[in-house]
Amino acid sequence: MDLDRIKSDLRRDMAARRKAVHGVVAIEPATAAMLKWIRAAAGVEVVSGYLPIRSEIDPRPVMSALVAEGYGVCVPVVEGPGLALSFRAWTPDTALIAGAYGAAIPAEDRPLKPDLLMVPLLAFDPAGYRLGYGGGYYDRTLAALAAGGRVRCVGFAYEAQALDAVPRGPYDQPLDALVIVARFRRVGRVDACLSRVARLAVGCLYILFLGDVVGRSGRAAVLAALPVLRRDWSLDFIIVNGENASAGMGLSAAHAREMLEAGADCITLGDHAFDQKDMTALIAGEPRILRPLNYAKTAPGQGSRLYTLANGDKVFVAQVLGQVFMRRAFEDPFGQIDAALKTAPLGGLAAAVIVDVHAEATSEKMAMGHFCDGRASLVVGTHTHVPTADAQILPGGTGYLTDAGMCGDYNSVIGMDKAEPLGRFVTGMPKNRFTPALGPATLAGVLVETDRKTGQAKRVTPVRYGGRLSPSAPQGV
Ligand SMILES: [Fe+2]
Ligand SMILES: [Fe+2]
Repeated sequence: MDLDRIKSDLRRDMAARRKAVHGVVAIEPATAAMLKWIRAAAGVEVVSGYLPIRSEIDPRPVMSALVAEGYGVCVPVVEGPGLALSFRAWTPDTALIAGAYGAAIPAEDRPLKPDLLMVPLLAFDPAGYRLGYGGGYYDRTLAALAAGGRVRCVGFAYEAQALDAVPRGPYDQPLDALVIVARFRRVGRVDACLSRVARLAVGCLYILFLGDVVGRSGRAAVLAALPVLRRDWSLDFIIVNGENASAGMGLSAAHAREMLEAGADCITLGDHAFDQKDMTALIAGEPRILRPLNYAKTAPGQGSRLYTLANGDKVFVAQVLGQVFMRRAFEDPFGQIDAALKTAPLGGLAAAVIVDVHAEATSEKMAMGHFCDGRASLVVGTHTHVPTADAQILPGGTGYLTDAGMCGDYNSVIGMDKAEPLGRFVTGMPKNRFTPALGPATLAGVLVETDRKTGQAKRVTPVRYGGRLSPSAPQGV
């Protein structure tokens, strides 16, 4: 089926979905959010709204408020097939006449040129792409307006209009923002009136980093949670440290594939990178798995890579090993990360930069955080398997957490069944092999929200999900 046919079928279905919720869900919280976003957008003087037809969300309360605040407000006028829209000034008192497609237009042709457009739509996806009515009017108009400078475009939609992916052609551009009319998800929280995708409105990327996955229990928890968290937190990118996922030692090819299929966009490793033999072959042809930059010159695979998101943003991920108290003396991590970061400038080539510093010593990890400050969105430690409580944004805008903790059973000694390590500490004698503890795992890590333009961290939230540890999750998502 060609793209036009797919889109026209979808338009019919999505129009029915929109109609079913129209008038049922209160739009006031979303109206307030729309106003807040427009007020916060720099350099905006003239806003285009629209006069709603059929089940389009009514933006007139927003438009009226903007008029009262001194903004120029206009509405689109269809000039004819294949042409860009023109815009006529609008106020709540404007006399209207019938225009094309049943939409009212101002009787008086007082043209205005908007620098921000609120647009209706039939469907949207988490990358911010919209499904319109098929006339191409907004696409042509945006292209024409953009020639005269930056024009922002914000969608106004019901939550029911969400799709996993809107089919798109080469000329489709993502929205700058999307304000969603949704039901209350947490009573009493205004920001929770907006659904997850509304966060596009602040131009953030949501990146989840999970610490060392330990054994079967850790794997099971990760596989079950990743699809849920990606959906509920609308994650843009998920990084998982997998160095202890297979029997506590390394990561097998089969377990790596499971985690990638469950939704990990990138798996980092560590000092146990090659404990499982088949990783050597897998990593050579699997760009989603990274080993430490400074592991060994002869190691297969890569220590850093630039990943491209569905919306075109690029995320750079790198991992380094520390030198202090590690079982082998690895090469200088500071020099290696310095060189790597120069290849992907934050806010330039990379919309976000994530550094996994796999090290034992808190001091070395903290030093690495400051070394990367301003050049990374997040520096997060792994390897000790115990989450630290120092999540913060460093002065240069880099999110930081000394250790993410592990994804494993915390009724253990750092993920291992406690009998053997306890016995060794008490008697000084090994008795058996270490085996991973098998109780329910807590996923531990960090969620960083980054500014898509600058790459700087806007918020860093420790994540503890399931299992024994006290929970911690981002608010308002
Ligand atoms: Fe580990
Ligand atoms: Fe490690």
